[in-house]
Amino acid sequence: MNKVTRNQRLETRIILKNIEKEGYIGDINSYISEGGYLALKKALKGSSEDIINEIKKSKLVGRGGAAFPTGLKWEFAKKSKEFPKYVVCNADEGEPGTFKDRIILEDDPHLLLEGMIICGLSLGAQTGFIYIRGEYFKAYEILKKAIEEAQEHNFLGESILGSEFSFKINLYRGAGAYVCGEETALLDSLEGRKGQSRVKPPFPTFVGFKNKPTVLNNVETFANISQILLKGAEWFSKIGSPLSPGTKLYCLSGDVNKPGVYELPTDITLKELIEKYGAGVDGKLKAVLPGGASSNLLTDKELGLTLDYPSVQKAGSMLGSGAVIVINDQHCMVDVARRCTEFFDDESCGRCAPCREGTKRAREILVNIALGRGEPGDPLLLKELQGVLYDTSRCGLGQAALNVTNSAIEKFPAEFEEHITKRKCRLGICL
Ligand SMILES: Cc1cc2nc3c(=O)[nH]c(=O)nc-3n(C[C@H](O)[C@H](O)[C@H](O)COP(=O)(O)O)c2cc1C
Ligand code: SF4
Repeated sequence: MNKVTRNQRLETRIILKNIEKEGYIGDINSYISEGGYLALKKALKGSSEDIINEIKKSKLVGRGGAAFPTGLKWEFAKKSKEFPKYVVCNADEGEPGTFKDRIILEDDPHLLLEGMIICGLSLGAQTGFIYIRGEYFKAYEILKKAIEEAQEHNFLGESILGSEFSFKINLYRGAGAYVCGEETALLDSLEGRKGQSRVKPPFPTFVGFKNKPTVLNNVETFANISQILLKGAEWFSKIGSPLSPGTKLYCLSGDVNKPGVYELPTDITLKELIEKYGAGVDGKLKAVLPGGASSNLLTDKELGLTLDYPSVQKAGSMLGSGAVIVINDQHCMVDVARRCTEFFDDESCGRCAPCREGTKRAREILVNIALGRGEPGDPLLLKELQGVLYDTSRCGLGQAALNVTNSAIEKFPAEFEEHITKRKCRLGICL
């Protein structure tokens, strides 16, 4: 294959390839007319090892946050001797600033279904679940219809397309808890219990839904599968950054002139995303959260950063689900830290003490600082608290809860100092 040029790469669409076409309405006929379900037909002719090897070779990593290699996850579940096996799609989309999965669910639902069916085929699973965010009423109805259409065409159901493979997909609505996006809390909720995180390991791949091997992937991850199988792992692995190839749906929000969801190759820089696609910062750039409220703040020094998973991590933050939130200089960082911490305190499931008590204590301290009642030792106390939560919380919610606070103290110490010593908010937001 010829080396793809940079300009062509910027035009690359994998996930949104159909929905921008004129007349495309996302029903099964539109999907089939664009080559939909051809990947499933191809997969049915090969072996499950062929599918898994192709996904492994593509170097696709999960798009839900943890960036775990997808092919490896499928292989672990496939190799497990336990039966039955399950496929679960995480469509909870709860991270503040994330609104990308909704586009797939509403505008191209068969892209997701085909990826899940192929996953089921590779594992020898017969049942799949889509755990959908409770507030996604429209997406729920569209998915329900898409599942019926797929059943009518025998892409789902008994003996799919005359093969020995049978697979069904059930829809399950969440009840609005952010923690239920965390994979083990999601599984508890799916099993009918209160959504609270389990201790890991064991990971769901080995001990998942009803304690059976379960592949749990994000919507965007599944949406990549059919194109990888049709066009090949080599094609996919050459798109974007070699460190985590492919495209990413970046959710650009906050103080930018053109917020939105942009599908771009993963070698796009933060600067290009904001300036070329987001039409620049609305005001003067102060900070950026590259992976939503769970990530560490970046500043203008990091604008040249490539938005692939390892590069963002190396820069001291994380890409997560790609919720790039831009913050201009009209925001007080004490206020930003306080509001993020309040979110995590509200959403903590309460199962483990460090997160349950730690987020509450951090919230109290930040409210005090914001109101001019802070103590000189408070920033250090908050940093210590962040370390304790990171080290001892049971799940990612608690581990990441004070990332914004910690990085705000590190990168904008003067703003905390002024609130504490001068009892003053330079922007007049807090006091
Ligand atoms: C607090 C918390 C919330 C999460 N919310 C989501 C979510 O809404 N959607 C999602 O796909 N992953 C979410 N995740 C990540 C999942 O636990 C899991 O890693 C992911 O769904 C696996 O799919 P992937 O490998 O395709 O990324 C969350 C993790 C944490 C700790
Ligand atoms: S870290 Fe927080 S959200 Fe996770 S299990 Fe503990 S209390 Fe629940």
